[in-house]
Amino acid sequence: MADTWLSDTRAAYDTDASGYTERVRGLLDDKPYLRASLALFAESVQAAGGGPVADVGCGPGYVTEHLRDAGVDAFGIDLSPEMVAIARRTYPRVRFDVGTMTDLDLADGSLAGLVAFWSIIHVPDHALPGVFAEFHRVTRPGAPVLIGFHVGEGVRHSSEGYTGRPVSLDSHRRRPYSVADLLRDAGFTIEAELLMRPDEDVPGAVVFARPER
Ligand SMILES: C[S@@+](CC[C@H](N)C(=O)[O-])C[C@H]1O[C@@H](n2cnc3c(N)ncnc32)[C@H](O)[C@@H]1O
Repeated sequence: MADTWLSDTRAAYDTDASGYTERVRGLLDDKPYLRASLALFAESVQAAGGGPVADVGCGPGYVTEHLRDAGVDAFGIDLSPEMVAIARRTYPRVRFDVGTMTDLDLADGSLAGLVAFWSIIHVPDHALPGVFAEFHRVTRPGAPVLIGFHVGEGVRHSSEGYTGRPVSLDSHRRRPYSVADLLRDAGFTIEAELLMRPDEDVPGAVVFARPER
């Protein structure tokens, strides 16, 4: 089967990098549960001994920077070169690499933690087990992993970006238990699931996991 989702997703974020960046500017300021989750993640990384942490699908890099402010040795990885260019310009002292979560250019067990905030939403169901296998491969035993995503069912297709330009972008909504089950299948232990804004049309969730020792 020809897999166009990666090239479509890359092209969509390259086209809409500045629109997306504007859209999420200051987002963490009024998201106390996300800030608390990142603080707990940072604390867990330090408690496990510290070391390099990847923000996978980092977009414009504000989560990476937030983690660095919390004392974490974080760097960002994103599929979209335009997104990475914005992240590098905005946070010039931070490392940002172009790469894909389907095939991370990282050594086995090299990470002390991994965050993927609203980036697996673009990964189709058939590719998600492979992505979680990559997350498991690159994290060392006991390293905290934090996954954020839209909650719900099915896939939404966008044909227009935030700046009105044409894109072709699929976003998948998932139930926390289904994400947790896939993480278990990949060799992770689930530590917590947090459902945010459960009464809204599109709730958010974060799942805390660790590769089994
Ligand atoms: C909704 S944005 C989230 C950005 C940021 N994490 C945040 O929370 O605002 C999704 C990001 O995931 C990136 N992305 C999508 N598929 C990816 C992949 N296969 N590998 C790496 N990054 C990917 C996109 O380029 C985009 O920057």
